[in-house]
Amino acid sequence: MQGNKRGRVLTGIRPTGRLHLGHYVGALKQWIPLQDDYECFFLIADVQALTTHAGNRELIERSVREVVLDFMAVGLDGSRDNVYFVLQSAVPALTELTTYLSMVTPQTWIDSNPTIKDELKTRRTDVTVGFMTYPVSQAADITLFSGDPKTHPGESILVPVGEDQIPHLKSTNDIVNAFHRMYGPVVLMQCAPKVSNIGRLVGTDGQGKMSKSMDNVIELADLTEAVRKKVQGMFTDPKRIRADIPGDTEDNPVFIYHRAFNPNANEVAELTKLYQEGRVGDVEVKARLFAALEMFLAPIRERRHEAEKLHIEGDLLAVGNARARRIGKLTIERVREAMGLNYPNLFNE
Ligand code: TRP
Repeated sequence: MQGNKRGRVLTGIRPTGRLHLGHYVGALKQWIPLQDDYECFFLIADVQALTTHAGNRELIERSVREVVLDFMAVGLDGSRDNVYFVLQSAVPALTELTTYLSMVTPQTWIDSNPTIKDELKTRRTDVTVGFMTYPVSQAADITLFSGDPKTHPGESILVPVGEDQIPHLKSTNDIVNAFHRMYGPVVLMQCAPKVSNIGRLVGTDGQGKMSKSMDNVIELADLTEAVRKKVQGMFTDPKRIRADIPGDTEDNPVFIYHRAFNPNANEVAELTKLYQEGRVGDVEVKARLFAALEMFLAPIRERRHEAEKLHIEGDLLAVGNARARRIGKLTIERVREAMGLNYPNLFNE
């Protein structure tokens, strides 16, 4: 049953650390309003995390909890009856479906996947089979949540993601089509990508996107003093050596953050004008940004504090995992039936 909500949303994130402002702008912010209209599944992709962080047990284990807290903190609410937090490793059907889908996925689709190609360029460790097949695993993450196409014909699964995930969603639909060409009638749903148009947030150093490995992040869980220090240390317009010469506000990270996080549009407009005219210093502009970020983070900290009182596994993940396993069982049954792998008698203990 999908309740009276319109359809399903599935999206995911790898638990490889606490979430930061970049995750908020690029992903989480777009997910929040979907909770009002859809049955939402937010996947904590701990198995996929092993494609980049195998052997880093502690980090992944700790990050599962941190990500759940970050989710709750920004207003994704796994305690609502249409919103589920799902831990990938707790749903074995995902692994099973990955294997089945891999049988209809040509290797060339993986080799030509632009995101995979990009990631291969920067990999320091050996490339594993698990890494190379993660687009198939991601197709399973999505399509496991297919409702029954017989009762929901033409319906798709909405997947809100950043731009870099688009090749994986295209692959997902290609795989679904390949599956149906070989094993029709239709048993899986297509996915519909929803790309965030806000894109990536630059790091505090202005050097590239905000990312832990660049040490240029402000985490959602950062406390006041950490935020103050990070804002004070932010890069601004490198060509502006004195406060009384005109400065750039377009590519200036301090102004990018003002535009992203300062709710006071008048203040932002005023500061922008003054800065371009060389009439306000970096110190002042940063002090105002710090104040704005503190206001933005206040309710996030408050909700995180409340969420810390919850039993993450028992109250949130257990409910989401159970729902996912129930849906997964139905999907796997349809898939096995289609593939001629349905031997119900053999499952009796
Ligand atoms: N690959 C995504 C990322 O790195 C995480 C992810 C896993 C995902 N499974 C997914 C995203 C399914 C969308 C749908 O951020």
